[in-house]
Amino acid sequence: MINVEFVCLGNICRSPLAEAIFQNKINQLQLQKAIQCDSSGTGAYHIGANPDPRSIKIAHEHHVPIAHKGRQFGKEDGKRSTYILAMDANNYRNIIHALAYKHEGLFLMRDFDPKAKGADVPDPYYGGEDGFKNVYEMLDRSIDGFLAFIIKKHHLK
Ligand code: 4NP
Repeated sequence: MINVEFVCLGNICRSPLAEAIFQNKINQLQLQKAIQCDSSGTGAYHIGANPDPRSIKIAHEHHVPIAHKGRQFGKEDGKRSTYILAMDANNYRNIIHALAYKHEGLFLMRDFDPKAKGADVPDPYYGGEDGFKNVYEMLDRSIDGFLAFIIKKHHLK
């Protein structure tokens, strides 16, 4: 089983949306037996919280089911994850700090975005709904890129 962990700061805006988009694509590709995913935040502010209403809204506009309870990233996530996808450079550093080592499957989410390789998925929390639309589009593209990478690497199709 391939385990994929999406990580942002609060685990209410970006990473639960990434998890929802990814799971929806996994279902469509019928890869549920090969790949599972989860999300978490490097911060502890929103443990137990539902996704931000703006993430729920943009997911539903794209007919993507979304349900998650906020969780803080920890050492156990390092052990069970094949891949850890950090939403931005700050969280990438926070993950290395939390694990106290560089996990070999740790990447930036946008390492897989053909339009802006290695860029941040910007934190939309303090902005408006446009920010969530922008985040959705970069996540959708990056996840397609990431899926192509793991399907090839693990000979899944
Ligand atoms: P996220 O957005 O990391 O994409 O979930 C944030 C949500 C909440 C906070 C920061 C970022 N916060 O500081 O409460």
